[in-house]
Amino acid sequence: MRKPLIVGNWKMNKTSSEARVFLREFAQSHNGSSQAEVVIAPPFTALESVRTALGSSSWIALGAQDLHWEKQGAFTGEISGPMLRDLGCSYVIIGHSERRTLFGERDADVQKKVRAALACGLFPILCVGESLTEREAGQTEVVITNQLSAALDRLTDNDLGTVTIAYEPVWAIGTGRAATTDQAVEVHHSIRTFLSKGWNTGAASAMRVLYGGSVSPQNAALLLNASGIDGALVGGACLNPDSFATIISAAKPKSVH
Ligand code: 13P
Repeated sequence: MRKPLIVGNWKMNKTSSEARVFLREFAQSHNGSSQAEVVIAPPFTALESVRTALGSSSWIALGAQDLHWEKQGAFTGEISGPMLRDLGCSYVIIGHSERRTLFGERDADVQKKVRAALACGLFPILCVGESLTEREAGQTEVVITNQLSAALDRLTDNDLGTVTIAYEPVWAIGTGRAATTDQAVEVHHSIRTFLSKGWNTGAASAMRVLYGGSVSPQNAALLLNASGIDGALVGGACLNPDSFATIISAAKPKSVH
């Protein structure tokens, strides 16, 4: 059994006071027990207020949306892994397509960030996904395999076991056009094949592979029940407490094949 993981990526939304309001409302929308592990990834500026509002024994873990690969130094505007750990983060999203396409992040940067996260005890959530042009050109598998090989290059089995992969087709992000379960299952299957070829079966099969891209309260149950989908990385729909609570409730443990 892999426990499902639901991650809410707030992107550049919510001030710290809006974050407190969200959590108050969320506590009313959700009964506080879940069959899924849940992570909230607010902007850096709201990490502290989310952590305080959740309390130290919360069932919800804290995540960041990015990190720099160095621990400290002259990198104006950047945030390091130890800084995130100090604020109570246990997860960090790495290589999101918005970082790749809008901010020029390359596979080599993503690789350094994965290593930096592991070195300071953060669990990386590594995002991979193809653009519409790449899908239409029949390159989905190649693109994803290349992104995975670069980011996970030479990781040990132990390190690999702590990484979560998020398959986020770029064309599905923020478009209201989620992948069909068949499309998602096919890519999840090829991700699992890639992992089990390169690493020890135990480590590879312990890893969770999430789906992200227009996950909503309407389509969550279908996607989350599909074979090989171990959870969701949610953008727009996680900003609303009721929608996020509904998505979390749709996640149930499944046996591993
Ligand atoms: P949407 O759920 O808004 O499509 O965003 C997905 C995403 O990019 C999560 O990281």
